[in-house]
Parts: sequence; C-alpha cells; structure tokens
Amino acid sequence: MKYVIGIDLGTSAVKAILVNEKGEVCAETSRSYPLIQTKAGYNEQNPEEWVEQTIAALAELVSKSSIQSQDIEGISYSGQMHGLVLLDKQHQVLRNAILWNDTRTTPQCEKITEEFGEQLLTISKNRVLEGFTLPKILWVQEHEPDIFGKTAVFMLPKDYVRFRMTGVINSEFSDAAGTLLLNLPEKKWSKDVCVKFGIPEQICPPLVESSDCVGTLLQEIAIETGLLEKTRVFAGGADNACGAIGAGILSSGKTLCSIGTSGVILSYEEDKERDFKGKVHFFNHGKKDSFYTMGVTLAAGYSLTWFKDTFCKNESFEEMLSDVGDVAIGSNGLLFTPYLVGERTPHPDSLIRASFIGMDATHKREHFVRAVMEGITFSLQESIKIFREEGITVDKVISIGGGAKNEDWLQMQADIFNAKVIKLDTEQGPALGAAMLAAIGCNWFVSLEECAEKFIKESKSFYPIEEHVKEYQRLFTIYQDVYFKTRELNKSLANFRKQ
Ligand code: XUL
Repeated sequence: MKYVIGIDLGTSAVKAILVNEKGEVCAETSRSYPLIQTKAGYNEQNPEEWVEQTIAALAELVSKSSIQSQDIEGISYSGQMHGLVLLDKQHQVLRNAILWNDTRTTPQCEKITEEFGEQLLTISKNRVLEGFTLPKILWVQEHEPDIFGKTAVFMLPKDYVRFRMTGVINSEFSDAAGTLLLNLPEKKWSKDVCVKFGIPEQICPPLVESSDCVGTLLQEIAIETGLLEKTRVFAGGADNACGAIGAGILSSGKTLCSIGTSGVILSYEEDKERDFKGKVHFFNHGKKDSFYTMGVTLAAGYSLTWFKDTFCKNESFEEMLSDVGDVAIGSNGLLFTPYLVGERTPHPDSLIRASFIGMDATHKREHFVRAVMEGITFSLQESIKIFREEGITVDKVISIGGGAKNEDWLQMQADIFNAKVIKLDTEQGPALGAAMLAAIGCNWFVSLEECAEKFIKESKSFYPIEEHVKEYQRLFTIYQDVYFKTRELNKSLANFRKQ
C-alpha cells in the first residue's frame, strides 16, 4: 500500500494526516502555536514556530503510523491564506508574519481603494480588505522602511514552510490569488499593481500549479521527520481551496460551508470572467484553471471559542453545547452578531464589533450559546443570499469544520440556509484536500474528481424544516438590521479600545 501526507497549516495549529490509496486516514497528528497580539487588531505569528511544529507533527505521524517511509510517496500543503512572510537575500525571515486576521491596515486599504480600487478589481477580481496581503506589504513599506528595503522575496505561510522543507521558493495560484498582486484571469503577477505601489516585481515568488511537484525533502528534514529524502513535495493550495477539494467541491452545483476560526461559504466557478463586483471573494481553485467564489465571516468558530474561554472556561465544547437543542429557535429573543474582530462579507468593516441584542432576565447560559451559533450561521447566510442573488443555486451544502461536529448546528444550518446540508464521513477538512493534491501529483488518479470519488463519502443529510425556515427568515431580517443600527455606535466606541 502507498501513502501520501496532507499538511494543513492553520491559524491555531498545524495538522498532518497520512492517507492511503483507498483514501483512509491511517494516522493524524497536530501541534499548536500561539498568536502574537501586541496591540488591538494586530495578529502575528513567528514563522519559525510553524516550521518547528510542522516537523514535530510529521515526526510523530511517521513514528506512530509504523509505516515504512519508502511507502510514503508524496507530501502536500494547505495553509491559512494572505499572511505576509518577508525574507532577505539570505532567505532569513525579516519580521513576524502578519496574518489574515490582522486589521491594522485600514489606512492602506483606503489609499489603495481610492487610488486604484477599480483597476485592482479588474486585475485581481477582489476588493481591497485588511486581511489581504497587498495592504500588509504597504504597511511594512510605510512603517518599517528598513525591513521593506531588505526584502528579497515575500511568501505566504504554507509556501514558507514548504520552502524550509525543500529549499525551493515558489507560490501557487490559489494562495497567490489572495494577495491582490495576482492578475487572476491571466495567472501572472501584475506588473501594474507592483509599479503603482512601488513594489519591486522580483520580490514576488515564481508561480506553479497546486499539484506540481516542486522538489524533494532536504536531507536534514528527512532525518528529523523519519521520511526519505526522495519523498516528492507538491505545491498544495490555500486552506479554502483545499477545504473545497477535500469536500469534493470540484464542479458547479455544490456549496461548501466551512466553520473554522473564520467561516466560509464557497461555491465552484468555471468562468474566469464571472463578475461579482467584489461583493464576494473570487479566487483561483486548486483544481487547474478553475475558480471559486467565497464569502467570509471573520469570527465564526472564533466567536464560540471566545464565548467558551470567557464564560465556560472549565467545560468542553460538548458540555457547553449539550443543551442548545432544548432552546427554541431564536434563543427566546436573543440575537448575536459575530463581529468580534470586524467583518468581511457582506460588510467589509474593521471597526464594527459584536452585539448581543434583546437580553432578558429569563435568558440562561444556554440561550447565549444558541444565540452565538445562530448569529454565526446568519452571518454565513448573508453570503448565501449574495450567491443566490447572483444566480448561483444553493440547495446542497457540504458542511465541514467545527460546524459539522454538532447535529443541532447542522440542522440549524439546513433551516437557516433553507438547503440540504450534508455531513461527510471522517471529514478531514483542508488536510485531506492537500493529501488529494499529493495523490494526483503521484499519479494515483487522473483527476481530482476521480480521487474525490474514492476518498470522499457523505455520511448524513439534514433537511430544512418548513416552520423553522419561516421563523428564521423573520429573524434574519432583524439580524441584518443590527449591523446598520450599531455601526455608528461601534465607530465611536473604537476610540475607547485601549489595546
Ligand atoms: C480567507 C481567509 C481565511 C483564512 C483562514 O480569505 O482569510 O479563511 O484563509 O485560514
């Protein structure tokens, strides 16, 4: 039996899975690393921690699986998108990585939008947002000119880890699409964007396809992990592209709902000229010459984690969620908007903050928990609403991540999305998508579709219940209003946020 490894470099942890030719996950490991938050809105990580923890996760994976290393044919990667890693001429990291959930770049976003917003929308197919890479580069250019001057190449998180494992520098289209520096339809770095913002074009890494073999393992990495030097390494993709591959979103008609730290509603697209006018993101897929469109809730799983850490510290998630099924739809008049760190879709707004509206003396802890889950799901419904308005049919949603671990939440998704929601058997998220890219790179299958047929199994479906759908539709209108009614209040409160 042959094996491949899929690595998912997430925001809180790296996960590695070992998958055989039948698509069975034979071993799994995970290692976490901290966020570095020195000021309100700042979110950084030390790239060295990613490398150390990835190697540790791989070493444990190899030793605990007791599989012969020679049978492990390939490795590929999925990773948190948009993060900025800067390297000097000697390929040393120049500063901590600035992550996708860092919101310091509002002034840079305003400048880009004002001076070049419309052209950028045509070139990159996306509107400027704090999370994307270009504004981060401009922030460094403005605030840390010495570092910018020393920059020989910029990299995205998983591309940096892959470089440290192979010694080869490159990026691939699905992650490059999230930088705003890529001419998305033409699949090349945009000279116009670089010239406009004084970015030397040579700092953009060479581009490859997600399933391209970029090299093999460096000797020291092979020794540290127990893998063989000749193990082939494939480029991989952005976490959302890999999540979509791992959930079989490889043709039109299927929608993905992924609830991790952030939450994503994603739909496959074939037409590179499709124009959503920047209302939702539009990125290159990990499947060659295809695309996906996506709406993002910044604090999805993060809202629930925040609630647990703040109010139910000594409980497990299972305990905290155990009685949400007993609370009626609408949490007895309690509404939550999940804007803990600002929002992206449909309100690109870094100053908006979360609300509980309608608190009543009868509300118990379980009402708050259900309200948080409903608020996250309403926020994702805002993206589904845009998709539907743009003519995309959303009637079959594959749910992955934290949102797929709880059946009450899966039913809630079916009721709020008014669509059939499907849970996968032994769902592995983006790590499986990465493993699938390695599997087709190793020629186990002729296409990702053929691989998906073998690797991905649906386990259970949840259908919308008519009365629930109607009730949620009424609540959704109120939910949508909360943003507009709290926007100005939150702008004023922003001056009181000290750190
Ligand atoms: C997508 C985005 C997030 C990160 C999370 O645009 O910023 O989903 O990829 O890892």
